[in-house]
Amino acid sequence: MRLTIFGSGYVGLVTGACFAEAGNNVLCVDVDERKVEMLKRGESPIFEPGLDEMLKRNIAAGRISFTTDAAEGVKWGLFQFIAVGTPPDEDGSADLKYVLAVAEAIGKNLTEYRVVVTKSTVPVGTADKVKAKILQTLKARGADIEFDTVSNPEFLKEGAAIGDFMKPDRIVVGTDNPRTAELLKALYDPFTRSRERMIVMDVRSSELTKYAANAMLATKISFMNELANLAERMGADIEKVRLGIGSDPRIGYHFIYPGAGYGGSCFPKDVQALARSARDHSFKAELLDAVEAVNKRQKDVLFEKINKHFEGKLSGRTIAVWGLAFKPNTDDMREAPSRTLMERLWAAGAKVRAYDPVAGHETKRIYGERGDLQIVKSGPEAIKGADALAIMTEWQEFRSPDFDTIKAELKHPVVFDGRNLYDPGFVKRFGLTYYAIGRGDSV
Ligand code: UGA
Repeated sequence: MRLTIFGSGYVGLVTGACFAEAGNNVLCVDVDERKVEMLKRGESPIFEPGLDEMLKRNIAAGRISFTTDAAEGVKWGLFQFIAVGTPPDEDGSADLKYVLAVAEAIGKNLTEYRVVVTKSTVPVGTADKVKAKILQTLKARGADIEFDTVSNPEFLKEGAAIGDFMKPDRIVVGTDNPRTAELLKALYDPFTRSRERMIVMDVRSSELTKYAANAMLATKISFMNELANLAERMGADIEKVRLGIGSDPRIGYHFIYPGAGYGGSCFPKDVQALARSARDHSFKAELLDAVEAVNKRQKDVLFEKINKHFEGKLSGRTIAVWGLAFKPNTDDMREAPSRTLMERLWAAGAKVRAYDPVAGHETKRIYGERGDLQIVKSGPEAIKGADALAIMTEWQEFRSPDFDTIKAELKHPVVFDGRNLYDPGFVKRFGLTYYAIGRGDSV
């Protein structure tokens, strides 16, 4: 089938590449000329395991191509996917200007029936706005052409997006038109064949499903972080508690890892946007507000441990940081807890010497050249002569470090672990002081 995908960001590219992989002919449209030129050369502007090879393979096969021309895009695909960004407004609500700009471009260029599918995460009611915008634009040019709008939120995880797309837990489709549901079923059939995983519902429920999923996951994390803070004050170990509660299948082991707070482009933005929409509906979403507040506080926890250990004397010290990305297998630094830590260390007069397997460049791009930030090429290099070590991302390569070297290299033998990677008793055997999140004696 022929598909057009507006927006060659994270969601758009993964969606485009995976649909092409299944044999469809995909045209990706983006306003950013530089990005489109890169993509034409087969270079992916984002780091996502497996994406580069998939793009190259499908470009070579002629199944995926790229353009900045929206008119060409509208002409191309029966399906017109909207996968552009919805950044937060100043008040936390999702900014729909890019989504509506695509709707306008579709209205301006429509010549025959199209299915317009919104994949971007958008507030409940956006599908109606997209429809109204297309109708209004069509009317302005005196045209009367049939089209359908569908909500089809994505549930991809960064770092595992290709697998999530190819083998989804579920495909949520929001439409009031059975014919459109059939078309989407045919399109997704290669990915859902082994089991019926498509859930068709009305448009508004589909739009809310996306926010509900992310808000639920964020709630689990903030709940565990709250409990971790309690555990360390009560002399309990949250890691034991985690196993104790996870064994109840109603709770489950997934997504109950305490840490330095959740980051990324989705949870912080979506929880805020949902709370904001609640207010727009004259409802104060107490729980959502608390989830957000707990997370904000959690991002400060590691800094506070460091500050307390050094009795507020951080000026002139160098803290080694292992891991910068908001989670492993991505170079994404959006809302990363490491940023809060670094910014607080800098404000206190300390220097940061950081290592991340892939997010070093992105960190340099964000903060530029500055005297109190040094990005180095390995974990061992980061600790050389540093005062202490802080761990912010649970990359695989940090899981079994050489603790003897850490002890020998650090001026103060102390490790602050924002991801609870090690057994406290084991680390202490090397003569290191070990602070983690929610683990008994580590307050
Ligand atoms: C999240 C959701 O997991 C996806 O299902 C969703 O599609 C996506 O948002 C989206 O809306 O696009 P993502 O932001 O890529 O995906 O990352 P996650 O793996 O969910 O991690 C989010 C944050 O939570 C990370 O900072 C991670 O360290 C933290 N986390 C996760 C915890 O602190 N504890 C946990 O137990 C799990």
